[in-house]
Amino acid sequence: MRINSYQEYKEVYQKSVENPSEFWNSIAEQFVWRKKWDKVLEYDWSKPSTKWFLNAKLNITENCLDRHLKDKGDQIAIIWEPNDPKEDAKHISYKELHSQVCAFANVLKNNGVTKGDRVCIYMPMVAELAVAVLACARIGAIHSVVFAGFSSTALAARINDATCKVLLTADGSFRGNKITPLKDIADEALKTCPSIEKTIVYQRTQQEISWNPSLDVWWHEELEKVDNHCPAEEMDSEDMLFILYTSGSTGKPKGMVHTCGGYMVYTAYSFQNVFQYKQGDIYWCTADIGWITGHSYIVYGPLSSGATTVMFEGVPSYPDFGRFWEVCEKHKVNQFYTAPTAIRALAKHPTELIDKYDLSDLKVLGTVGEPINEEAWHWYDDYVGKNKCPIVDTWWQTETGGMMISSLAGITEDKPTFATLPLPGIQPVLLDHDGTEISETKAEGILAIKHPWPSLARTIYGDHERYKNVYFSAYPDHYFPGDGALRDENGNYRITGRVDDVVIVSGHNLGTAPIENAINEHEKVVESAVVGFPHDIKGNALYAYVITYDGVEENDQLIKEVREVVSNTIGPIAKPDKIQFVKGLPKTRSGKIMRRILRKVASNDISNLGDVSTLLNPEVVEDIIENKL
Ligand code: PRX
Repeated sequence: MRINSYQEYKEVYQKSVENPSEFWNSIAEQFVWRKKWDKVLEYDWSKPSTKWFLNAKLNITENCLDRHLKDKGDQIAIIWEPNDPKEDAKHISYKELHSQVCAFANVLKNNGVTKGDRVCIYMPMVAELAVAVLACARIGAIHSVVFAGFSSTALAARINDATCKVLLTADGSFRGNKITPLKDIADEALKTCPSIEKTIVYQRTQQEISWNPSLDVWWHEELEKVDNHCPAEEMDSEDMLFILYTSGSTGKPKGMVHTCGGYMVYTAYSFQNVFQYKQGDIYWCTADIGWITGHSYIVYGPLSSGATTVMFEGVPSYPDFGRFWEVCEKHKVNQFYTAPTAIRALAKHPTELIDKYDLSDLKVLGTVGEPINEEAWHWYDDYVGKNKCPIVDTWWQTETGGMMISSLAGITEDKPTFATLPLPGIQPVLLDHDGTEISETKAEGILAIKHPWPSLARTIYGDHERYKNVYFSAYPDHYFPGDGALRDENGNYRITGRVDDVVIVSGHNLGTAPIENAINEHEKVVESAVVGFPHDIKGNALYAYVITYDGVEENDQLIKEVREVVSNTIGPIAKPDKIQFVKGLPKTRSGKIMRRILRKVASNDISNLGDVSTLLNPEVVEDIIENKL
């Protein structure tokens, strides 16, 4: 499955484009299926509908676990590193993981979960989170993992959207020196979640929690009631594997639906090729399983490849900014995958914090989640990789399920700030605003993908119309990811950023509309507009322009309250860094907020605001500039 040279990449890529079905057929042959497919691909993007490996039967956990038992049952599957370095790490072998997954799958069954039920998982980065995810997959239940930094309102919205039957949570979570009361947050959420019939609570922080005997059961007590024998449920290739929510530029979060067969094939294939993972290597992705990166490249991709994957509970700054490197040394990490925002934060600190540790096992560095600036790229290359580790800058999305554009470590060339070349099977194009494909190699435009790949999300849970509108309507017959890109003379892609109203803050996708809605909920606020502006560490930060009612005192207390309302509705990650009170917002004659102007002011780039005379209220622009923060 692994490509071994640049020449081979060229040949394989060519084949994958000329005959995608034949190409994916040969890749899929290398997995364990209960029954093979009748047809590799069937699609019609005018509907849109995409199906891979039609009528094949499988269970993804048989690929992630059972198939490894014979040859590498004793090999470590997961190394779990706790938040506190004084606590012991856990080393879980494939045999042990298999047994834990089967046991917990039986716990789920005992608590009423059956094939097709949705299970919400709101947990810290404990090893049991990975066990829970796999246990759902084992019995054909659909997991919906909600990042444990989200508020009770955000959690409730996700539970209700998917009508989840069971919630898996913990008493609390440790992150750095902070303890988050997850169970309290979950209790608050469940006040408005009638579909939840059981909450299974993992004990992590041992803090006091309230207990509802008709709903709550302890994880460890439930485990005492089961054995570890649980045959895997047979799933169709196109059955749902999981739902994962991502922000949209408008409205409520989108529950992206991923299915079993294609997702399995693509995450394993891309994992092995991009990272050039070799048996025996130790691979560490620092993401949280609450995001797609954790799903695809902590759990499914590595485990179905028989890899050893590290899971980290903590944060890069605790107990100090050398923690990542301490963990790399301790576990002899070979492939290290993190986000530009973490790299930028670490680069602010003395390099002695790196030099203290032996990083000689590192072979490959990776980045994901947002464009990486040149300075951060070189810092990563010089100080972490010591100029001997290829850097894979992997462009992809929750919706794409797996990495789409990236160099293959040491096989294809990397280039600072460029994600570089498409993976085999991925056909990116650049479009102009009319949707015409730009034929010149060196160009800039709107990024689109013109042929299906196996791990594409198949729909938005409960809202196929929205799926069609967001991804397949702007440019017919193309998947539209919402990013702009440029291409150099060698065909390397550089992602230039979002072309919609999504802002990426510290690697987290945030739609501005839901944040505005939250701010507008404050009783003293008439209207607001939120935009992104460049930030040294976070990549982007949020700037909110807020109009208050007549007579309201616009003071620090109100700023605090506005930030709180956002934190409570969405989560602390969505709090605006800057809040400016304004008399009005620049609007077009049709009443649309002219965000371009607001973005420029927030970015301190007011020399060229363009023509404001067409605005309904050009006078507000002056006021905004005068009082900008
Ligand atoms: O704008 C792109 C940016 O992150 C978006 C996807 O966010 P999300 O669904 O949360 O998934 C993040 C992890 C896969 C993309 O539309 N993005 C992701 N990776 C890169 C990137 N931008 C530039 N370079 C990247 N390597």
